[in-house]
Amino acid sequence: MVDFVVQNWHEGDLFMSALKILILATGKGKRMKSKLPKVLHHVCGVPMVQYVLWEAEKLCAQKPLVVVGYKGEEVTAALGEQVEYVRQEEQLGTGHAVKVVSHSLQGFNGDLLVLYGDTPFISAATLDKLAAAHREKKAAATLLSVEVADPAGYGRIVRDGDNRVAGIVEESEASAAEKLITEVNTGIYCFRFSDLTEIIPDIQANNAQGEYYFIDVVSLLRRKGRVVEVVKSDDPSEILGPNDRKALAETERVMRGKIINRWLEEGVTFIDPAAAYVDPRVKLSADTTVFPGTVLYGKTSVGGNCRLGPYTQITESEIGSGCRILFSVVNQARISDNVEVGPYANIRPGTVVESRARVGDFVELKNSRIGLGSKVPHLSYIGDCRIGTGVNIGAGTITCNYDGGAKHQTVIKDGAFIGSNTSLVAPVTVGENSLTGAGSTITKDVPDRALGIARARQVTKDNWTRHKRKD
Ligand code: UD1
Ligand code: CA
Repeated sequence: MVDFVVQNWHEGDLFMSALKILILATGKGKRMKSKLPKVLHHVCGVPMVQYVLWEAEKLCAQKPLVVVGYKGEEVTAALGEQVEYVRQEEQLGTGHAVKVVSHSLQGFNGDLLVLYGDTPFISAATLDKLAAAHREKKAAATLLSVEVADPAGYGRIVRDGDNRVAGIVEESEASAAEKLITEVNTGIYCFRFSDLTEIIPDIQANNAQGEYYFIDVVSLLRRKGRVVEVVKSDDPSEILGPNDRKALAETERVMRGKIINRWLEEGVTFIDPAAAYVDPRVKLSADTTVFPGTVLYGKTSVGGNCRLGPYTQITESEIGSGCRILFSVVNQARISDNVEVGPYANIRPGTVVESRARVGDFVELKNSRIGLGSKVPHLSYIGDCRIGTGVNIGAGTITCNYDGGAKHQTVIKDGAFIGSNTSLVAPVTVGENSLTGAGSTITKDVPDRALGIARARQVTKDNWTRHKRKD
């Protein structure tokens, strides 16, 4: 559990140019119809607020301040120590959130950049442009606006006769004429904090929604004769923030496209970019080909010249170069270079597969090491097992690693040859260059260069037919 502590700001400690980033993340996301707080809904495998944090990080070394409310504990658990938190007990509006925060930031004399946690496409470049314009114009506040084809639901930017921003009007308060305005408020602003604190007490909840609207700061500052500037973003997609599951699916689609485009530019081939799923934390390398139905999640890295898929899911794994993985699942495993996996292999956590090894069809590996050039080609379960180099595991081999109480290890040393359908009852060791007879149940260690065979001898009964003939 992370404490709700904000670093103390002491006057004089900071230069005027200091920037603090504030992210509003209290939303319940009613229209998501979910128990999960809105900002924790995943986009391409990552909570959507994480994208905002990554961009914030590029801009400012200081930890951002995140306002949490609905299920705040879940948000703090998900984001951990990468941010500082302020709790807004009651969500009385965006203006109220900033009122709450202003107490925690007393003494801060830099600029405050306010963002939303549910706009995963916002870029550091755009934010930087906003902050730079803000400083250059020595403004009290600078807003980020955008022109959209359909402004419904957004606050409209109202300009005066001199084309300067006069205020922002929410949809619910807008007149018919104001509703036609297509320049909308992105909800992203940069403030000189000292100016903001002056007018924060004046934010009232006297609007149709009975909420404290943060947007009121614009008209309040203008009334005091302060400079309020607007920077227009040229990318409307940057402020997309999903409110329901349909929009979430669309957000996912757009984000996926962006991620995959980046890898296409880096020399990765996607046979069908619309049919591949790549988490933003994944790292790919040039000349790797991704076939349809491939899902890459978590901190996964893949070397060059690999062929992944079709229909393969790789999570939190490290894959070397020149590997081929098809119709398979790999989770929390390390696979070296030139390894072949699948079709239909299931590689589970803690597994290491060394170079030039082969893991074939209907093979499950768990917490095991497969040595250099070793082969587990067909129909095996290998759990808690160390396999040396140049080992061949016959079809149907099973490590019996679990006795109902504890897990035990199997060791198969270099050059061993395990006959088909061997059961290895762990703990057990098969020595170097040893063999096991097909169909054996190996319960005792097999020394180096030996044959372990443990099966009933065949009995053959001559002239034996199923139905005794009468004649
Ligand atoms: C807000 C803006 C609107 C803008 C739009 C852009 C206001 C009044 N309106 O509208 O001009 O066009 O964003 O998307 O600001 N929040 C809190 N505490 C609260 C209430 C909200 O932290 O008490 C957070 C929410 O979690 C959310 C953000 O503030 O991240 C925006 O709140 P929301 O109610 O969604 O505002 P919009 O109606 O979208
Ligand atoms: Ca919103």
